[in-house]
Amino acid sequence: MIAEEKPSHLIQPGRKIIVAIDGPAGAGKSTVARHIAEHFGLMNLETGAMYRAFALKALRAELPLDDGNALKLLADETTIRLEPGDENNRVLLDGEDVTGMLRNQTVTEAASRVSVFPPVRAWMVRLQQQLASQGGVVMEGRDIGTVVFPHADVKIFLDAAPEVRGLRRFDQLGPKSTQQPEEVIRDLRARDARDRNRAESPLKAADDAVVLDSTEMTLDQVVQAADAIVAARLAEPARHS
Ligand code: DC
Repeated sequence: MIAEEKPSHLIQPGRKIIVAIDGPAGAGKSTVARHIAEHFGLMNLETGAMYRAFALKALRAELPLDDGNALKLLADETTIRLEPGDENNRVLLDGEDVTGMLRNQTVTEAASRVSVFPPVRAWMVRLQQQLASQGGVVMEGRDIGTVVFPHADVKIFLDAAPEVRGLRRFDQLGPKSTQQPEEVIRDLRARDARDRNRAESPLKAADDAVVLDSTEMTLDQVVQAADAIVAARLAEPARHS
């Protein structure tokens, strides 16, 4: 290889790709998405943070989290924006920076509950499609490859055994965790069940997604594998006009 030769992902400068990364909690989506965004010069959009921000608003309004109609009305008067941040996206809820308020147990649980309602999902999907309308993004979530961008250029579905994902989450929480590992695994299984069994856009791999099961892999290995998948895809001619 000539020293100055460009890597394949830089050969087509006009091409604005969309990379969809889906999977359950704790599968390594955020780490992989961050890496892919940095390596391939894409914007990283975390759709889970949008559901979390909406859940925060519902909690503040003291709405019953099982009242789909009330949640729909709340969505009608809500704006959510994602901006690039250091580690995670900066999340603006009605203009307020709520980035630091989204990762606690109460919001995590509430996000899982509000995300089952079809009108809430339809609204989110529209927002997400607008956010990424120019392409050049990695979008991570649960339904990106199946519903939000069914024609995404690259689709990766990350999975791992619930025990492994739960222990990773427990390690991420570190000493500030108020829960024992088995409680983290139990809650994660409950959220998994809600994600996989909801009527509207349940969590599942798109037919044309590459499935990566990281149960026996380190996160580093997962990142390398995902990187190779994107690079290989970018070396091919465009799939959709
Ligand atoms: O990825 P996360 O843990 O931050 O997501 C928070 C919640 O939002 C999670 O319970 C699943 C839900 N979610 C969803 O239903 N669809 C998405 N595209 C992203 C997240």
